[in-house]
Amino acid sequence: MTAPFKIAIAGLGTVGGGVVKALAARGEELSRRAGRTLEIIAVSARDKKKARDFAVTGWTDDVLSLARADADVVVELIGGEEGIARQLVETALANGKHVVTANKALLAKHGLALAQLAEKNKVTLKFEAAAAGGIPIVKALREGLIAHGVDAVKGILNGTCNYILTEMESSGRAFDDVLKEAQAKGYAEADPTLDVGGGDTAHKLALLAAIAFGTAPNLDAVAVEGIQHITPDDIAFASEFGFRIKLLGVARRVDGKIDQRVNPAMVRVRSALANVGGAANGVSVDAGEAGTFFFSGRGAGEAPTASAVIADIVEAACGAPSPVFGRPVADLKPMTPADGKAAVSPWYLRFEVLDVPGVLASIAGNLAEAGVSIESMIQRVRAPGAPVTIVMITHETSQASVERALKAIGASDKVRGRPCMIPMETA
Ligand SMILES: NC(=O)c1ccc[n+]([C@@H]2O[C@H](COP(=O)([O-])OP(=O)(O)OC[C@H]3O[C@@H](n4cnc5c(N)ncnc54)[C@H](OP(=O)(O)O)[C@@H]3O)[C@@H](O)[C@H]2O)c1
Repeated sequence: MTAPFKIAIAGLGTVGGGVVKALAARGEELSRRAGRTLEIIAVSARDKKKARDFAVTGWTDDVLSLARADADVVVELIGGEEGIARQLVETALANGKHVVTANKALLAKHGLALAQLAEKNKVTLKFEAAAAGGIPIVKALREGLIAHGVDAVKGILNGTCNYILTEMESSGRAFDDVLKEAQAKGYAEADPTLDVGGGDTAHKLALLAAIAFGTAPNLDAVAVEGIQHITPDDIAFASEFGFRIKLLGVARRVDGKIDQRVNPAMVRVRSALANVGGAANGVSVDAGEAGTFFFSGRGAGEAPTASAVIADIVEAACGAPSPVFGRPVADLKPMTPADGKAAVSPWYLRFEVLDVPGVLASIAGNLAEAGVSIESMIQRVRAPGAPVTIVMITHETSQASVERALKAIGASDKVRGRPCMIPMETA
Protein backbone atom coordinates (compact mmCIF):
# COMPACT_ATOMS: atom_id res chain seq x y z
CA MET A 1 0.00 0.00 0.00
CA THR A 2 1.03 3.61 -0.58
CA ALA A 3 1.31 6.20 2.21
CA PRO A 4 -1.64 6.42 4.64
CA PHE A 5 -4.41 8.88 3.80
CA LYS A 6 -4.48 11.21 6.80
CA ILE A 7 -7.84 12.49 7.97
CA ALA A 8 -8.61 15.45 10.27
CA ILE A 9 -12.19 15.69 11.51
CA ALA A 10 -13.80 18.90 12.77
CA GLY A 11 -17.07 18.27 14.59
CA LEU A 12 -17.82 15.13 16.59
CA GLY A 13 -21.60 15.40 16.84
CA THR A 14 -24.19 13.23 15.10
CA VAL A 15 -22.33 13.03 11.78
CA GLY A 16 -18.73 13.39 13.01
CA GLY A 17 -19.33 10.72 15.67
CA GLY A 18 -20.83 8.46 13.02
CA VAL A 19 -17.78 8.87 10.80
CA VAL A 20 -15.35 8.08 13.65
CA LYS A 21 -17.38 5.00 14.62
CA ALA A 22 -17.70 3.70 11.06
CA LEU A 23 -13.97 4.14 10.45
CA ALA A 24 -13.23 2.33 13.72
CA ALA A 25 -15.58 -0.54 12.82
CA ARG A 26 -14.71 -0.98 9.13
CA GLY A 27 -11.41 0.88 8.71
CA GLU A 28 -9.53 -2.08 7.29
CA GLU A 29 -12.08 -2.87 4.62
CA LEU A 30 -12.47 0.81 3.75
CA SER A 31 -8.69 1.22 3.53
CA ARG A 32 -8.58 -1.66 1.06
CA ARG A 33 -11.28 0.09 -0.99
CA ALA A 34 -9.26 3.32 -0.87
CA GLY A 35 -5.98 1.56 -1.70
CA ARG A 36 -4.41 3.37 1.28
CA THR A 37 -4.69 3.10 5.04
CA LEU A 38 -7.29 5.58 6.22
CA GLU A 39 -5.96 7.14 9.37
CA ILE A 40 -7.61 9.74 11.59
CA ILE A 41 -4.72 11.90 12.72
CA ALA A 42 -6.59 14.75 14.44
CA VAL A 43 -10.07 15.66 15.66
CA SER A 44 -11.66 18.72 17.18
CA ALA A 45 -15.02 19.92 18.45
CA ARG A 46 -16.25 22.58 20.87
CA ASP A 47 -16.05 20.79 24.22
CA LYS A 48 -13.22 18.39 25.01
CA LYS A 49 -14.93 17.19 28.19
CA LYS A 50 -18.20 16.21 26.54
CA ALA A 51 -19.08 12.53 26.99
CA ARG A 52 -18.98 10.72 23.63
CA ASP A 53 -19.83 7.10 22.84
CA PHE A 54 -16.60 6.51 20.91
CA ALA A 55 -12.87 6.82 21.62
CA VAL A 56 -11.46 10.26 20.90
CA THR A 57 -7.86 10.25 19.76
CA GLY A 58 -5.82 13.10 18.34
CA TRP A 59 -7.88 15.83 20.03
CA THR A 60 -6.93 19.45 19.47
CA ASP A 61 -8.65 22.49 20.99
CA ASP A 62 -7.83 24.68 18.01
CA VAL A 63 -10.19 23.69 15.20
CA LEU A 64 -8.37 25.81 12.64
CA SER A 65 -5.14 23.97 13.37
CA LEU A 66 -6.71 21.02 11.50
CA ALA A 67 -6.30 22.99 8.30
CA ARG A 68 -2.63 23.38 9.05
CA ALA A 69 -2.07 19.84 10.33
CA ASP A 70 -0.35 17.11 8.39
CA ALA A 71 -3.71 15.95 6.98
CA ASP A 72 -4.58 15.00 3.41
CA VAL A 73 -8.27 15.67 3.95
CA VAL A 74 -10.12 17.94 6.37
CA VAL A 75 -13.64 16.73 7.14
CA GLU A 76 -15.84 19.65 8.19
CA LEU A 77 -18.84 18.45 10.23
CA ILE A 78 -19.55 21.51 12.36
CA GLY A 79 -22.18 23.24 10.22
CA GLY A 80 -23.24 26.83 9.58
CA GLU A 81 -22.76 28.97 6.51
CA GLU A 82 -20.31 31.36 8.15
CA GLY A 83 -17.98 31.37 11.18
CA ILE A 84 -15.60 28.62 12.02
CA ALA A 85 -16.88 26.15 9.42
CA ARG A 86 -16.33 28.56 6.54
CA GLN A 87 -12.94 29.65 7.90
CA LEU A 88 -11.82 26.05 8.29
CA VAL A 89 -12.90 25.00 4.80
CA GLU A 90 -11.31 28.05 3.16
CA THR A 91 -8.05 27.62 5.07
CA ALA A 92 -7.88 23.89 4.37
CA LEU A 93 -8.45 24.38 0.62
CA ALA A 94 -5.96 27.25 0.51
CA ASN A 95 -3.43 24.99 2.26
CA GLY A 96 -3.88 22.31 -0.40
CA LYS A 97 -5.99 19.88 1.64
CA HIS A 98 -8.96 18.02 0.22
CA VAL A 99 -12.18 18.89 2.02
CA VAL A 100 -15.22 16.71 2.68
CA THR A 101 -18.25 18.34 4.23
CA ALA A 102 -21.95 17.74 4.91
CA ASN A 103 -22.58 21.48 5.14
CA LYS A 104 -25.33 22.39 2.67
CA ALA A 105 -25.77 25.92 4.02
CA LEU A 106 -22.09 26.77 3.46
CA LEU A 107 -22.01 25.32 -0.04
CA ALA A 108 -25.32 26.74 -1.20
CA LYS A 109 -24.12 30.19 -0.18
CA HIS A 110 -20.39 30.09 -0.96
CA GLY A 111 -20.11 27.01 -3.22
CA LEU A 112 -18.81 28.83 -6.28
CA ALA A 113 -16.01 30.66 -4.42
CA LEU A 114 -15.04 27.47 -2.59
CA ALA A 115 -15.01 25.50 -5.86
CA GLN A 116 -12.70 28.16 -7.33
CA LEU A 117 -10.41 27.85 -4.32
CA ALA A 118 -10.37 24.05 -4.58
CA GLU A 119 -9.58 24.19 -8.27
CA LYS A 120 -6.84 26.77 -7.81
CA ASN A 121 -5.17 24.55 -5.22
CA LYS A 122 -5.74 21.33 -7.20
CA VAL A 123 -7.69 19.65 -4.43
CA THR A 124 -11.19 18.26 -4.21
CA LEU A 125 -14.20 19.51 -2.28
CA LYS A 126 -16.84 16.84 -1.79
CA PHE A 127 -20.32 17.11 -0.31
CA GLU A 128 -22.36 13.95 -0.94
CA ALA A 129 -23.83 14.11 2.58
CA ALA A 130 -25.03 17.69 2.10
CA ALA A 131 -28.05 16.72 -0.01
CA ALA A 132 -30.36 13.85 0.91
CA GLY A 133 -27.99 12.34 3.51
CA GLY A 134 -27.23 8.73 2.67
CA ILE A 135 -28.72 8.78 -0.85
CA PRO A 136 -25.86 9.01 -3.39
CA ILE A 137 -27.66 11.63 -5.44
CA VAL A 138 -24.69 13.98 -5.84
CA LYS A 139 -22.66 11.19 -7.42
CA ALA A 140 -25.61 10.15 -9.59
CA LEU A 141 -26.03 13.67 -10.96
CA ARG A 142 -22.32 14.39 -11.22
CA GLU A 143 -21.37 11.13 -12.90
CA GLY A 144 -24.10 8.59 -13.47
CA LEU A 145 -26.73 10.58 -15.37
CA ILE A 146 -24.65 12.90 -17.57
CA ALA A 147 -25.08 11.23 -20.96
CA HIS A 148 -28.43 12.76 -21.98
CA GLY A 149 -28.52 15.75 -19.67
CA VAL A 150 -31.02 16.39 -16.91
CA ASP A 151 -34.32 18.18 -17.48
CA ALA A 152 -35.68 18.17 -13.92
CA VAL A 153 -34.87 17.19 -10.36
CA LYS A 154 -37.72 16.82 -7.86
CA GLY A 155 -37.08 15.88 -4.29
CA ILE A 156 -38.35 15.36 -0.80
CA LEU A 157 -35.16 16.64 0.78
CA ASN A 158 -36.13 17.41 4.36
CA GLY A 159 -36.91 14.51 6.68
CA THR A 160 -38.40 16.73 9.38
CA CYS A 161 -41.07 18.13 7.05
CA ASN A 162 -41.80 14.73 5.58
CA TYR A 163 -42.16 13.25 9.06
CA ILE A 164 -44.56 16.04 10.08
CA LEU A 165 -46.71 15.73 6.94
CA THR A 166 -46.78 11.93 7.25
CA GLU A 167 -47.85 12.15 10.91
CA MET A 168 -50.47 14.81 10.13
CA GLU A 169 -51.95 12.47 7.53
CA SER A 170 -51.96 9.34 9.66
CA SER A 171 -53.25 11.00 12.84
CA GLY A 172 -55.35 13.89 11.51
CA ARG A 173 -53.58 16.21 13.96
CA ALA A 174 -52.63 19.84 13.32
CA PHE A 175 -49.17 21.08 12.27
CA ASP A 176 -48.29 22.72 15.64
CA ASP A 177 -49.24 19.62 17.58
CA VAL A 178 -47.18 17.26 15.41
CA LEU A 179 -44.24 19.68 15.36
CA LYS A 180 -44.14 19.72 19.18
CA GLU A 181 -44.11 15.93 19.25
CA ALA A 182 -41.37 15.83 16.60
CA GLN A 183 -39.28 18.21 18.73
CA ALA A 184 -39.80 16.04 21.81
CA LYS A 185 -38.67 12.95 19.86
CA GLY A 186 -35.61 14.74 18.46
CA TYR A 187 -36.89 14.72 14.84
CA ALA A 188 -37.13 18.51 14.77
CA GLU A 189 -34.80 21.23 16.05
CA ALA A 190 -35.77 23.51 18.94
CA ASP A 191 -35.84 26.27 16.32
CA PRO A 192 -37.48 24.47 13.39
CA THR A 193 -37.64 27.50 11.05
CA LEU A 194 -34.97 26.37 8.61
CA ASP A 195 -36.66 22.98 8.18
CA VAL A 196 -40.39 23.77 8.18
CA GLY A 197 -39.90 27.10 6.39
CA GLY A 198 -38.28 25.30 3.43
CA GLY A 199 -34.81 26.94 3.77
CA ASP A 200 -32.98 23.66 4.33
CA THR A 201 -34.63 22.11 1.26
CA ALA A 202 -33.64 25.22 -0.72
CA HIS A 203 -29.97 24.78 0.26
CA LYS A 204 -30.02 21.18 -0.97
CA LEU A 205 -31.96 21.99 -4.12
CA ALA A 206 -29.55 24.79 -5.08
CA LEU A 207 -26.66 22.28 -4.90
CA LEU A 208 -28.44 19.55 -6.86
CA ALA A 209 -29.58 22.06 -9.51
CA ALA A 210 -26.02 23.34 -9.95
CA ILE A 211 -24.71 19.84 -10.64
CA ALA A 212 -27.68 18.82 -12.76
CA PHE A 213 -27.65 21.88 -15.02
CA GLY A 214 -23.97 22.89 -15.03
CA THR A 215 -24.62 26.24 -13.41
CA ALA A 216 -23.25 28.09 -10.41
CA PRO A 217 -25.44 27.47 -7.33
CA ASN A 218 -28.01 30.25 -7.07
CA LEU A 219 -29.74 30.06 -3.70
CA ASP A 220 -31.30 33.50 -4.09
CA ALA A 221 -33.21 32.32 -7.15
CA VAL A 222 -35.07 29.58 -5.24
CA ALA A 223 -38.69 30.56 -4.51
CA VAL A 224 -39.33 29.18 -1.02
CA GLU A 225 -42.51 28.40 0.87
CA GLY A 226 -42.77 26.14 3.93
CA ILE A 227 -45.37 23.77 5.32
CA GLN A 228 -46.54 25.81 8.33
CA HIS A 229 -49.91 26.72 6.83
CA ILE A 230 -50.89 23.18 5.75
CA THR A 231 -53.96 22.04 7.68
CA PRO A 232 -55.37 18.57 8.35
CA ASP A 233 -58.24 19.63 6.04
CA ASP A 234 -55.82 20.19 3.15
CA ILE A 235 -54.35 16.75 3.72
CA ALA A 236 -57.79 15.12 3.88
CA PHE A 237 -59.03 16.93 0.75
CA ALA A 238 -55.83 15.96 -1.09
CA SER A 239 -56.61 12.36 -0.27
CA GLU A 240 -60.18 12.72 -1.59
CA PHE A 241 -58.72 13.86 -4.92
CA GLY A 242 -56.16 10.99 -4.95
CA PHE A 243 -53.19 13.13 -3.92
CA ARG A 244 -50.82 13.53 -0.97
CA ILE A 245 -49.08 16.72 0.17
CA LYS A 246 -45.27 16.75 0.23
CA LEU A 247 -42.72 19.52 0.63
CA LEU A 248 -40.96 19.35 -2.73
CA GLY A 249 -37.81 20.97 -4.00
CA VAL A 250 -38.13 21.20 -7.77
CA ALA A 251 -35.54 22.44 -10.26
CA ARG A 252 -36.31 22.27 -13.97
CA ARG A 253 -35.25 23.67 -17.30
CA VAL A 254 -37.75 26.06 -18.80
CA ASP A 255 -36.84 27.52 -22.22
CA GLY A 256 -33.11 27.61 -21.49
CA LYS A 257 -33.65 29.04 -18.03
CA ILE A 258 -33.94 27.26 -14.67
CA ASP A 259 -36.96 27.31 -12.39
CA GLN A 260 -36.09 26.45 -8.76
CA ARG A 261 -38.83 26.24 -6.17
CA VAL A 262 -39.51 24.77 -2.76
CA ASN A 263 -43.16 24.49 -1.76
CA PRO A 264 -45.81 22.10 -0.53
CA ALA A 265 -47.12 20.27 -3.60
CA MET A 266 -49.77 17.65 -4.25
CA VAL A 267 -48.39 14.44 -5.71
CA ARG A 268 -50.50 11.50 -6.90
CA VAL A 269 -50.84 8.88 -4.16
CA ARG A 270 -49.51 6.18 -6.44
CA SER A 271 -46.38 8.14 -7.41
CA ALA A 272 -42.97 7.21 -6.02
CA LEU A 273 -42.63 10.57 -4.25
CA ALA A 274 -45.98 10.15 -2.49
CA ASN A 275 -44.76 6.89 -1.03
CA VAL A 276 -41.70 8.36 0.64
CA GLY A 277 -42.98 8.27 4.21
CA GLY A 278 -41.78 9.43 7.62
CA ALA A 279 -38.35 10.98 7.86
CA ALA A 280 -37.15 9.46 4.58
CA ASN A 281 -36.00 11.40 1.52
CA GLY A 282 -36.72 10.75 -2.16
CA VAL A 283 -35.41 12.28 -5.37
CA SER A 284 -36.72 11.86 -8.88
CA VAL A 285 -34.44 12.80 -11.78
CA ASP A 286 -35.73 13.28 -15.32
CA ALA A 287 -32.65 12.42 -17.35
CA GLY A 288 -33.94 13.06 -20.87
CA GLU A 289 -33.79 10.06 -23.20
CA ALA A 290 -32.37 7.91 -20.41
CA GLY A 291 -35.71 8.20 -18.61
CA THR A 292 -36.77 9.05 -15.09
CA PHE A 293 -34.85 7.65 -12.13
CA PHE A 294 -35.97 7.54 -8.55
CA PHE A 295 -33.78 7.40 -5.45
CA SER A 296 -35.04 7.04 -1.91
CA GLY A 297 -33.68 6.29 1.53
CA ARG A 298 -32.55 7.88 4.75
CA GLY A 299 -31.73 11.54 4.29
CA ALA A 300 -30.35 12.22 7.76
CA GLY A 301 -29.11 10.60 10.94
CA GLU A 302 -25.79 9.26 12.11
CA ALA A 303 -25.23 6.16 9.98
CA PRO A 304 -26.71 7.32 6.62
CA THR A 305 -24.94 10.68 6.72
CA ALA A 306 -21.65 9.14 7.83
CA SER A 307 -22.03 6.67 4.97
CA ALA A 308 -22.04 9.53 2.44
CA VAL A 309 -19.12 11.30 4.17
CA ILE A 310 -17.04 8.13 4.13
CA ALA A 311 -17.79 7.53 0.45
CA ASP A 312 -16.36 11.00 -0.22
CA ILE A 313 -13.29 10.37 1.95
CA VAL A 314 -12.56 7.11 0.12
CA GLU A 315 -13.03 8.80 -3.25
CA ALA A 316 -10.68 11.60 -2.24
CA ALA A 317 -8.12 9.00 -1.14
CA CYS A 318 -8.45 7.16 -4.45
CA GLY A 319 -7.27 9.74 -6.85
CA ALA A 320 -7.36 12.78 -9.02
CA PRO A 321 -9.57 15.65 -7.83
CA SER A 322 -12.82 15.91 -9.78
CA PRO A 323 -14.59 19.25 -10.38
CA VAL A 324 -16.72 20.26 -7.40
CA PHE A 325 -19.96 20.77 -9.35
CA GLY A 326 -19.16 18.24 -12.06
CA ARG A 327 -17.56 20.76 -14.45
CA PRO A 328 -14.56 23.09 -14.15
CA VAL A 329 -15.64 26.38 -12.60
CA ALA A 330 -14.92 28.26 -15.85
CA ASP A 331 -17.52 26.04 -17.59
CA LEU A 332 -20.28 26.69 -15.04
CA LYS A 333 -22.88 29.00 -16.56
CA PRO A 334 -24.62 31.65 -14.50
CA MET A 335 -28.04 30.36 -13.57
CA THR A 336 -30.68 32.42 -15.34
CA PRO A 337 -33.86 32.06 -13.30
CA ALA A 338 -37.06 31.28 -15.18
CA ASP A 339 -40.19 33.22 -14.34
CA GLY A 340 -41.59 30.64 -11.89
CA LYS A 341 -44.92 32.43 -11.70
CA ALA A 342 -45.50 31.76 -15.38
CA ALA A 343 -45.23 27.98 -14.90
CA VAL A 344 -48.59 26.28 -15.31
CA SER A 345 -50.13 23.41 -13.35
CA PRO A 346 -53.51 22.53 -11.91
CA TRP A 347 -53.97 24.10 -8.47
CA TYR A 348 -55.73 23.09 -5.28
CA LEU A 349 -57.47 26.11 -3.73
CA ARG A 350 -59.17 26.29 -0.32
CA PHE A 351 -61.26 29.12 1.10
CA GLU A 352 -63.10 29.50 4.38
CA VAL A 353 -66.16 31.69 3.71
CA LEU A 354 -69.20 32.95 5.55
CA ASP A 355 -72.35 30.99 4.79
CA VAL A 356 -74.20 33.88 3.10
CA PRO A 357 -75.80 34.16 -0.34
CA GLY A 358 -73.60 35.30 -3.23
CA VAL A 359 -70.20 34.27 -1.83
CA LEU A 360 -69.66 31.48 -4.28
CA ALA A 361 -70.71 33.64 -7.23
CA SER A 362 -68.28 36.34 -6.16
CA ILE A 363 -65.38 33.85 -5.86
CA ALA A 364 -66.26 32.40 -9.26
CA GLY A 365 -66.26 35.95 -10.68
CA ASN A 366 -62.79 36.71 -9.26
CA LEU A 367 -61.42 33.46 -10.65
CA ALA A 368 -62.93 34.09 -14.08
CA GLU A 369 -61.52 37.63 -14.17
CA ALA A 370 -58.02 36.22 -13.55
CA GLY A 371 -58.53 33.58 -16.24
CA VAL A 372 -58.63 30.66 -13.78
CA SER A 373 -61.10 27.91 -14.71
CA ILE A 374 -62.34 25.29 -12.28
CA GLU A 375 -62.26 21.56 -12.91
CA SER A 376 -63.99 20.39 -9.72
CA MET A 377 -65.25 21.73 -6.44
CA ILE A 378 -66.20 20.52 -2.95
CA GLN A 379 -68.22 22.60 -0.49
CA ARG A 380 -68.35 21.46 3.13
CA VAL A 381 -70.59 22.89 5.81
CA ARG A 382 -69.37 21.93 9.30
CA ALA A 383 -72.07 23.47 11.51
CA PRO A 384 -74.95 25.88 10.97
CA GLY A 385 -73.60 29.44 11.03
CA ALA A 386 -69.95 28.32 10.92
CA PRO A 387 -67.70 29.26 7.98
CA VAL A 388 -68.02 26.97 4.99
CA THR A 389 -64.96 25.35 3.46
CA ILE A 390 -64.78 25.56 -0.32
CA VAL A 391 -62.16 23.55 -2.14
CA MET A 392 -61.51 23.83 -5.87
CA ILE A 393 -59.20 22.12 -8.33
CA THR A 394 -58.34 24.34 -11.28
CA HIS A 395 -57.46 23.46 -14.84
CA GLU A 396 -53.83 24.15 -15.76
CA THR A 397 -53.09 27.76 -15.00
CA SER A 398 -50.15 29.93 -14.03
CA GLN A 399 -49.21 30.80 -10.46
CA ALA A 400 -49.48 34.47 -11.40
CA SER A 401 -53.15 34.04 -12.43
CA VAL A 402 -54.00 32.10 -9.27
CA GLU A 403 -52.31 34.72 -7.10
CA ARG A 404 -54.22 37.49 -8.85
CA ALA A 405 -57.52 35.71 -8.21
CA LEU A 406 -56.69 34.93 -4.57
CA LYS A 407 -55.74 38.52 -3.89
CA ALA A 408 -59.18 39.65 -4.98
CA ILE A 409 -60.94 36.79 -3.17
CA GLY A 410 -58.97 37.34 0.05
CA ALA A 411 -59.97 41.01 0.10
CA SER A 412 -63.65 40.09 0.56
CA ASP A 413 -65.09 40.49 4.07
CA LYS A 414 -66.95 37.21 3.49
CA VAL A 415 -63.67 35.26 3.34
CA ARG A 416 -62.05 34.17 6.60
CA GLY A 417 -58.31 33.63 7.02
CA ARG A 418 -55.77 33.21 4.27
CA PRO A 419 -56.92 31.35 1.13
CA CYS A 420 -54.69 28.35 0.45
CA MET A 421 -53.14 27.48 -2.93
CA ILE A 422 -51.08 24.35 -3.59
CA PRO A 423 -49.74 23.29 -7.00
CA MET A 424 -50.54 19.79 -8.22
CA GLU A 425 -47.74 17.73 -9.74
CA THR A 426 -49.59 15.65 -12.30
CA ALA A 427 -46.65 14.59 -14.51
N1 LIG B 1 -27.44 15.30 11.52
C1 LIG B 1 -27.76 14.92 10.29
O1 LIG B 1 -28.50 13.96 10.10
C2 LIG B 1 -27.17 15.63 9.09
C3 LIG B 1 -27.54 15.22 7.80
C4 LIG B 1 -26.97 15.85 6.70
C5 LIG B 1 -26.10 16.88 6.89
N2 LIG B 1 -25.78 17.30 8.16
C6 LIG B 1 -24.83 18.39 8.30
O2 LIG B 1 -23.69 17.90 8.99
C7 LIG B 1 -23.11 18.94 9.76
C8 LIG B 1 -23.00 18.48 11.21
O3 LIG B 1 -24.29 18.17 11.67
P1 LIG B 1 -24.52 17.35 13.04
O4 LIG B 1 -25.94 16.95 13.02
O5 LIG B 1 -23.48 16.33 13.21
O6 LIG B 1 -24.34 18.52 14.11
P2 LIG B 1 -24.13 18.36 15.68
O7 LIG B 1 -24.55 17.02 16.15
O8 LIG B 1 -24.71 19.57 16.29
O9 LIG B 1 -22.54 18.43 15.82
C9 LIG B 1 -21.82 19.60 15.59
C10 LIG B 1 -20.39 19.39 16.04
O10 LIG B 1 -19.68 20.59 15.80
C11 LIG B 1 -18.98 20.98 17.00
N3 LIG B 1 -18.94 22.43 17.05
C12 LIG B 1 -19.96 23.30 17.10
N4 LIG B 1 -19.51 24.57 17.16
C13 LIG B 1 -18.17 24.48 17.15
C14 LIG B 1 -17.12 25.43 17.22
N5 LIG B 1 -17.37 26.74 17.28
N6 LIG B 1 -15.86 24.97 17.19
C15 LIG B 1 -15.60 23.67 17.14
N7 LIG B 1 -16.52 22.70 17.08
C16 LIG B 1 -17.81 23.12 17.09
C17 LIG B 1 -19.78 20.41 18.13
O11 LIG B 1 -18.94 20.26 19.25
P3 LIG B 1 -19.40 19.56 20.64
O12 LIG B 1 -19.71 18.13 20.27
O13 LIG B 1 -18.24 19.68 21.51
O14 LIG B 1 -20.62 20.31 21.07
C18 LIG B 1 -20.25 19.08 17.53
O15 LIG B 1 -19.28 18.10 17.73
C19 LIG B 1 -24.00 20.17 9.54
O16 LIG B 1 -23.47 20.93 8.49
C20 LIG B 1 -25.32 19.56 9.12
O17 LIG B 1 -26.10 20.43 8.32
C21 LIG B 1 -26.30 16.69 9.25
